[in-house]
Amino acid sequence: MITEILRGDNLSPAIDALKKGEVVAFPTETVYGLGADATNSRACQKIFEAKGRPSDNPLIVHVLDIKGLESVLAGSMPKAAAVLTEKFWPGPLTVIVPSNDTIPPLVRGFMPTVAVRSPSHLIARALIAAVNRPLAAPSANRSGRPSPTRVKDVWQDLHGRIPYIIDGGDSLVGLESTIVDLSVVPPLLLRPGFIGLEMLESALGERVLIPGAETPHKAPGMKYRHYAPRAPVIWINMREDHHIERAIVRLQKKFPNMALMAPGKWQRMHSGSFVTLGDTTEDMARQLFSGFRELDQRKPDAIVVVWEENDRGVGLAVANRLGKAAALEVKEEGPEKQVTE
Ligand code: TXA
Ligand code: MG
Repeated sequence: MITEILRGDNLSPAIDALKKGEVVAFPTETVYGLGADATNSRACQKIFEAKGRPSDNPLIVHVLDIKGLESVLAGSMPKAAAVLTEKFWPGPLTVIVPSNDTIPPLVRGFMPTVAVRSPSHLIARALIAAVNRPLAAPSANRSGRPSPTRVKDVWQDLHGRIPYIIDGGDSLVGLESTIVDLSVVPPLLLRPGFIGLEMLESALGERVLIPGAETPHKAPGMKYRHYAPRAPVIWINMREDHHIERAIVRLQKKFPNMALMAPGKWQRMHSGSFVTLGDTTEDMARQLFSGFRELDQRKPDAIVVVWEENDRGVGLAVANRLGKAAALEVKEEGPEKQVTE
């Protein structure tokens, strides 16, 4: 199959393809998605095939607004869903609710619930409106690879496997949406994202739990290896500069061809491949996946990332994705540990 890249002002071939039951990769504010008519099981089957995705891993259904959510919901609107969608839609928040029969079992991973999100990206919205159907769309990467945040990432993973990729520039957020399960009480944060835990809790006025060892609920996709580049990722999760410096030197000896992703000030220490990480956690979120892909192409023997964990806002999401990608996390040793943490 020949893959064509479409400009954002030339959507009609993509709209026609979606109406005919084909798949199209399109931009959203979080990451690029691989979409199909969510009410058409055969069309959605092609998403699983193009990605090489296991069929028990359900897709997110994209709608325009709360009316779109109502159209796939079984029963009455959970209060929490009304509150959160009113506050955060359109935007990077996915809610899990009981599903009616509009969405075929394949899309839901054969579960009674469905994941629904209203993207804010204008191209995504234009497609949903023109096709006049909810669009099922997981991230537009080959299964197991980092989510794509640039059109060239989608091309790298899926060219030859899908007819169209719509170019919408680089993703604004860079990490996948926050997923909150509202089919259970209290709500569960299944995947952290740009909408942080404290934003959800203050909107709802109640606790949102993070699934842990003691809760059985997890997003089905979370059991699969995720977000990982080919080279092993080593995360230097430290605060003190002299500790970071020592860790970099030690790793350089162990991995002579290592690549480094770090704030700009560390470039002086590393003559090999380097990706500069911005100063804020939002920058880090935006740059993480593209940084992995950029460095991976240079075939390093390790990708070392310098970033100190925090749990504010999108910090929890960055720590979650980096933690999943990392083969090894290096923390501060020595007596300073007790002092600083
Ligand atoms: O930002 C995003 O959410 C992007 C863009 C394209 O919208 N999409 C995305 O989709 O990240 P995907 O398939 O890569 O991640 C969807 C996650 C998976 O971990 C899946 O298991 C979970 O959502 N999920 C989907 N339906 C679910 C359900 N009914 N119950 C629990 N988890 C569900
Ligand atoms: Mg994905």
